Amino acid sequence: MKQIFGGNWKLKLVKKQEIEQLLNDLKNIMAENNPSAEIFVAPPAIFIPMVAENVNGTQIKLAAQNVSEKVSGALTGEISVASLKEFNVEYVIIGHSERRHIFSETNESTNRKVLITLENGLKPVLCIGETAAERRNNMTEKVLIEQLDIGLQGVTGNQLEDIVIAYEPVWAINNPLLNKDETIRAATPKEAEQTHSFIRSHLVKKFGDVGKLLPLQYGGSMNADNAKELLQIPDINGGLIGTASLDATKFSKIFL
Ligand code: PGA
Repeated sequence: MKQIFGGNWKLKLVKKQEIEQLLNDLKNIMAENNPSAEIFVAPPAIFIPMVAENVNGTQIKLAAQNVSEKVSGALTGEISVASLKEFNVEYVIIGHSERRHIFSETNESTNRKVLITLENGLKPVLCIGETAAERRNNMTEKVLIEQLDIGLQGVTGNQLEDIVIAYEPVWAINNPLLNKDETIRAATPKEAEQTHSFIRSHLVKKFGDVGKLLPLQYGGSMNADNAKELLQIPDINGGLIGTASLDATKFSKIFL
């Protein structure tokens, strides 16, 4: 399976110039090294048109960090999938833990976003992951099953090929807002292997052999030092990277 890596810039790059600099660095590195993996970047929405133009004709694909549940309507502040399409956005990150835990998104709203994204020909990156407390209380599998079952409700067989699943344990995401009083650390290879293989087996149970084809990204404090070992695990097919994606050298070391 082709590996797929995404740089989730969150709201950490907020000026045109810093984005241009990062893209120039990344484009140079990619032109020299011609990575075999698929690479996308997810800028803050307001920069999508600018980044679309900047990466046009390169190997860098464009992702949105979120999308509205509706294509249009009286919905102040929302961003339509139809508009994303206008700017060659290919992937949409949906249900990121920050959306779930800071902006109160639910499995149900995540599902509506997955469906509208697929119906409009874009690829959802459905993020799932348990909190530290859920893991401590042995609820990891239950939480992941709910996130997958509700998140993917109503998805049809031929749409499955367009879906990426990102497993991001909340406790591993480099975000103190999500992890009050918790130590933030990447999953160990053993933890990641166990959980990814559980996710894979659940997808196969649910969808049959097609479940084997969905790329499973790992996310949460992934960096150049821990990536090699994590990426050797058969059911880890790439990464969704926050902090390390803000530096072209650090980001590219993960996928080169
Ligand atoms: P991180 O973020 O790499 O900074 O931990 C990952 C993510 O939230 O997608």
